[in-house]
Amino acid sequence: MKGESMSALTAEERKALIDIANEARRRAYAPYSKYQVGAALRTRSGRIFTVCNVENAAYPSSQCAERVAIFKAVSEGEKDFEVLAVVTPNGGSPCGGCRQVMAEFNLEMTVLIADGNGHLVQETSVAELLPGAFTPKDLPK
Ligand code: THU
Repeated sequence: MKGESMSALTAEERKALIDIANEARRRAYAPYSKYQVGAALRTRSGRIFTVCNVENAAYPSSQCAERVAIFKAVSEGEKDFEVLAVVTPNGGSPCGGCRQVMAEFNLEMTVLIADGNGHLVQETSVAELLPGAFTPKDLPK
């Protein structure tokens, strides 16, 4: 595994979130890239939002799993995010656009990155994934 383990997550919690995200990966709509991504987003209130990437024949209209997770949660009234588990076939890392969307809500959020076998590749934070992030604090009052 890359990097340090930083969160207060137990091994069981980590495994459970990765397994849920991996299960969600099966619902990925990725007929173009064939790169199936699943995610599980846990809020401080304990809710878990499970999502996948959703592609489109007009390729740029596709959406990454991580962004679907945050938009789904926000649209259901949750904005306090604790942990995001992301599972890709090869343990690939979240894209820049998704890092920016995560940074809007919590730079301290733990991000678990795992591969399709459910192996944790990296445990990190949004702040680590996007140093110097532009956040709401940067907008003039
Ligand atoms: N994708 C994600 O869902 N999350 C990532 O972190 C990287 C990429 C999706 C977008 C597209 O549907 C496919 O994976 C290939 O880029």
